[in-house]
Amino acid sequence: MNNHRMKLSALTPPLLLAGSLLLATQVQAAAGYADVAPILNKNCVLCHTGDAAPLGLRLDSYEAIRKGSINGAVVIAGDSRNSKLIGRLQGTIQPRMPMTGPPFLSDADTALIASWIDAGLQPATASEMATLPVMKKPVLPAPGATLSYSDVAPIFMQRCVKCHKDNGLLGAPPEGLRLQNYAQLIRGGERVVVIPGIPASSELMRRITGQSRPAMPFDGPPFLSDDEIRVIGDWIKQGARDSDGQPAPIPVGAPVRLQGRLTGLWALDGLPLELANDVRIKKRVSVGDMVRIRGQVMPNGRISVTRIESR
Ligand code: HEC
Ligand code: HEC
Repeated sequence: MNNHRMKLSALTPPLLLAGSLLLATQVQAAAGYADVAPILNKNCVLCHTGDAAPLGLRLDSYEAIRKGSINGAVVIAGDSRNSKLIGRLQGTIQPRMPMTGPPFLSDADTALIASWIDAGLQPATASEMATLPVMKKPVLPAPGATLSYSDVAPIFMQRCVKCHKDNGLLGAPPEGLRLQNYAQLIRGGERVVVIPGIPASSELMRRITGQSRPAMPFDGPPFLSDDEIRVIGDWIKQGARDSDGQPAPIPVGAPVRLQGRLTGLWALDGLPLELANDVRIKKRVSVGDMVRIRGQVMPNGRISVTRIESR
């Protein structure tokens, strides 16, 4: 290196020399797509892939990143400061990415992506390409499988977290319901939305099937696929297990609010209702009506209904 520099300085005017050395070190230190892809795969591709990619922005291949979103480019070769992708990572453009955060990317990962942009968006070499994993959407478990939170989490991350988090697309999480992790999902927001073992009593299930309105996801269609709904229903039925396979406890005493159709006196879409002694029923409720019920979870997981009203 020293030798090399000596030779160069003998031939080159100082100014040009400084420039070419700077370029040489930059090229050496700068990241290539092979360095950037694993970070994007881990943190972004979950949502930014396929036909439903937000704003049409796919981050699952070199070509897709360069293509950008329906709004145009998100990376400008040589100019990370004015690249929207960096603005989203740093939070100077809201909502900050990844949409599942916090946690957001480390400063080191953000700097690495910025250096890749500044050095001109170097693609991966052919040999690097061969070692990069091909990103695929996770396959849903087959019917009958034992399910844990790990099986349902990707659905909530892709379709629900963008609103059901602090500073989501609508600002505060609707109904106080955050869906970024297991603890939040089981705790619920203003009320519990999952009753372990009983999908029909779980407002989350009623929202994704459309029994409760507005149906979720709120920005649907597209709504969840039949397979996704089946997997979430089976997961609740099996006890809403955490990622280690531990079922959730019955949230005894927690408030519940369910919507649906009154299919009998008293049944909600076929789910028998147990009325509390002091239940208040609004006068003109009759079988066939869309109703909203409120109550509390009893130790056996059933709901003690304290209020029924037409919707
Ligand atoms: C949970 C799903 C999700 C994840 C994970 C996610 N995003 Fe996003 N992303 C979205 C949504 C939703 C939007 C649209 C938000 C809006 O309306 O501005 C978006 C928008 C963007 C935009 C704006 C595009 C434009 O045209 O302005 C960029 C850039 C972006 N995301 C980059 C990333 C990066 C980089 C990561 C990973 C570090 C990431 N996203 C992770 C859901 C996600
Ligand atoms: C675009 C924003 C948005 C998305 C995406 C979204 N929601 Fe919601 N969610 C809302 C809003 C707004 C409400 C309140 C609606 C109402 O009842 O008036 C809500 C309410 C709910 C409730 C009712 C809470 C309660 O205490 O009664 C549940 C359960 C729910 N959402 C689950 C989900 C699930 C599961 C997903 C993903 C499959 C999802 N949401 C995706 C905006 C969203």
